[in-house]
Amino acid sequence: MRLILLGPPGAGKGTQASAIVEKYGIPHISTGDIFRYNIKEGTELGKKAKSYMDKGLLVPDEVVVEIVEDRLKKDDCKDGFLLDGFPRTVVQAEALDEVLKNMDISLDKVINIEVDKEILVGRAVGRRICKNCGATFHIKHNPSTKGDICDKCGGELYQRDDDNEETVTKRIQVYLDQTAPLIEYYNKQDKLVTIDGDKEINKVFKDIVVSLGSDL
Ligand code: AP5
Ligand code: MG
Ligand code: ZN
Repeated sequence: MRLILLGPPGAGKGTQASAIVEKYGIPHISTGDIFRYNIKEGTELGKKAKSYMDKGLLVPDEVVVEIVEDRLKKDDCKDGFLLDGFPRTVVQAEALDEVLKNMDISLDKVINIEVDKEILVGRAVGRRICKNCGATFHIKHNPSTKGDICDKCGGELYQRDDDNEETVTKRIQVYLDQTAPLIEYYNKQDKLVTIDGDKEINKVFKDIVVSLGSDL
């Protein structure tokens, strides 16, 4: 299965990605996670990405496209992949089409998770992530049973630098201006499935599985 997860900041892409990759046995490729890993490791790429991410802006297309192209050529992507947070501009989507064409493969579906703008800020600001295993929680909607400690692995929970109200608001605006046009782009390619992301996490997952034509 070759899939893209599309949706605004806080829509639940990362949350659903964990369940999707487990069910279909495909790698999860999140460009945001790749950048955050590079920031943590102090690489040149990390330094460059951080200057954009902290402002809620997109990292330049040419930087992102090269990273994703290299990643898709790795062996573990042979039987499929899930792209989370890429593409994010029409330029990136066109570049991806070209990369896939050269690899003689094509996308199966683009899953568009829809959530009202008013809900998104609260989702992002309340998010907490495990430093150790990367599990995502929400202080209200999906809390760890152990407070500030991950109930999956005992790791410490932290808040992303870009999850403050001001930056999240900017990220939502950037999504509307630069990424939302991809809904029409993939609709024209007849790849788009739209999912209501304002339901319980498990219910959203079930809707995604059904939309992909799979058994629950
Ligand atoms: P990225 O890391 O991709 O962030 P994003 O797109 O802003 O999306 P988020 O990760 O914030 O939200 P999500 O949809 O994954 O939500 P989650 O599942 O965590 O990108 C960060 C930055 O990197 C960008 O701003 C940009 O600078 C750069 N970047 C990345 N890719 C790029 C690209 N291709 N081009 C250029 N720049 C790029 O859920 C959110 C919260 O809600 C959690 O707390 C969760 O527990 C909770 N939640 C989830 N689902 C539900 C539900 N159904 N009900 C209630 N709560 C829920
Ligand atoms: Mg995410
Ligand atoms: Zn953990």
